[in-house]
Amino acid sequence: MMTITSPVTPGQFSFVLGIVPVIVAWIYSEYLEYEKNSALSKAHSDIGLVELGNDVVKDEDKAVLLEGGGGGGLQAVASPRARHSSSSFPVIRFLSMDRQFLLDNRLTLRAISEFALFMAYFYICDRTDILGSAKKSYNRDLFLFLYFLLIIVSAITSFKIHHDKSPFSGKPILYLNRHQTEEWKGWMQVLFLMYHYFAAAEIYNAIRIFIAAYVWMTGFGNFSYYYVRKDFSLARFAQMMWRLNFLVLFCCIVLNNSYMLYYICPMHTLFTLMVYGALGIFNKYNENGSVMAAKIIGCFLVVILVWEIPGVFEVLWSPFTFLLGYTDPAKPNFTRLHEWHFRSGLDRYIWIIGMIYAYYHPTVEGWMEKLEESEVKRKISIKTVVASIAVVVGYCWYEYIYKLDKITYNKYHPYTSWIPITVYICLRNVTQSFRCYTLTLFAWLGKVTLETYISQIHIWLRSGIPDGQPKLLLSLIPDYPMLNFMLTTSIYVAVSYRLFELTNTLKMAFVPSKDDKRLTQNIITAVVVSSTLYSLAFVFLKVPELLVRISPADELSMRLYEIRIFDYLL
Ligand SMILES: *[C@@H]1O[C@H](CO)[C@@H](O)[C@H](O)[C@H]1NC(C)=O
Ligand SMILES: *[C@@H]1O[C@H](CO)[C@@H](O)[C@H](O)[C@H]1NC(C)=O
Repeated sequence: MMTITSPVTPGQFSFVLGIVPVIVAWIYSEYLEYEKNSALSKAHSDIGLVELGNDVVKDEDKAVLLEGGGGGGLQAVASPRARHSSSSFPVIRFLSMDRQFLLDNRLTLRAISEFALFMAYFYICDRTDILGSAKKSYNRDLFLFLYFLLIIVSAITSFKIHHDKSPFSGKPILYLNRHQTEEWKGWMQVLFLMYHYFAAAEIYNAIRIFIAAYVWMTGFGNFSYYYVRKDFSLARFAQMMWRLNFLVLFCCIVLNNSYMLYYICPMHTLFTLMVYGALGIFNKYNENGSVMAAKIIGCFLVVILVWEIPGVFEVLWSPFTFLLGYTDPAKPNFTRLHEWHFRSGLDRYIWIIGMIYAYYHPTVEGWMEKLEESEVKRKISIKTVVASIAVVVGYCWYEYIYKLDKITYNKYHPYTSWIPITVYICLRNVTQSFRCYTLTLFAWLGKVTLETYISQIHIWLRSGIPDGQPKLLLSLIPDYPMLNFMLTTSIYVAVSYRLFELTNTLKMAFVPSKDDKRLTQNIITAVVVSSTLYSLAFVFLKVPELLVRISPADELSMRLYEIRIFDYLL
């Protein structure tokens, strides 16, 4: 018998209320599609023509989905055939089960249904005891064995030399290309995840550095993007927010968790917004060096004001406690904002460092180009000097900072995390050939870091209760920890990858990139639909509860009444 560990919340119930009609509509749309195809094949007895017909249909689907990407998917009147339909409001066409509408949006409906299936899997794994759980255990030998095994496997199978050319100069890319950052994200993410799976407490400080490196990349990547593209549009903004928060939003609703349980998401959202704000304000003057310097100094001042001056943080963030508050059920004594203060504080400067590196990127690339072209002896000596300095600095950092215990280390972390990051960047780039090598397996994993980060808590590890830290492992094969590790890991990575693709598919369907009117309409529709669903769910769940609560009170007053009558009669 399945037991659910916590009562159903209005949020969860509204998710069910919303998803059931979509799944029904999707099944119906598949049926319509099937009907259409069989009608087509009846019409053409010639087999060649049937195949042609099917191909045309498939291409049309693709076109609709793509057009949906430009025009708004489910919310858009996606195909020209449908434009003369009775109502142009997608929600109304959906509710009236408009056949053409369902056919046009079949793939979007399918994506939503698949997404719902994964959410159900999350819930079953984490909140019911249908599947088992196991305890974490750490063995350094096993931990390193698995990690190095993965490196060897990926070196054998996915070692790749890139010969990309820089879009600006046409010369080989020199400095932090995309393959490299993705590979970097990938190998860090694997260690980060294994740290959670095996409870490898001894690498705590290294994990702090990895997270700082992600935040550094947020500053670096977003700065480069906005500086070069100058695209501060609503659509771009909405797409960015969708990418960062779509999955986590639904995890919060379905699993009744706080946003802060997935602290990486609010943190990256905040720092992305800060970069966006820093570059977006007076963006006409971004080319001007002194304006940019002023902006960077401004960023530092904001951070110093908020995080270094006691009391400011609490005053500024307390209105957002509903969003960013978190209480770990295992440690109920901290204030609601403690977690947010701690997490956002650790990496408060590193995103600015990322921005600075991005700003000087073209300059450094220019130097490196010159260096590569200079005579061999000079080239080698300069590179040797750079590499030796990096090694010595890295060693000193390791000896005097990294080895500190975790509490002391955390105090120094915000001011020192740039050191190992810079050392890594220097060493990773020291020779031309070294720069072009990447392990694509890690780069592949680096693409789905957000999804693997969020899903691990529920379908790889287990938290069991709302807001609980994932202290347990999901167990599908009891008593065989390594086999279980293999099986749960495979499912988990596959699901994460699908979630990554679904997030993208649905983003293309709902967040059109060139139609702000549609986008605004979609946002309003989303707000209206979700608040209607939530109110319905709320009424549905709370009214019976109220009735139950009233009845004992009624009983009591009835009894008092009886007693009084009794008194009176006596
Ligand atoms: C660092 O390594 C990356 C990855 O290969 C490379 O793209 C970048 O040019 C290097 N940067 C420097 C400063 O050498
Ligand atoms: C901006 O930062 C976020 C968070 O790390 C990241 O997901 C996104 O890809 C970045 N955008 C660009 C253009 O690099």
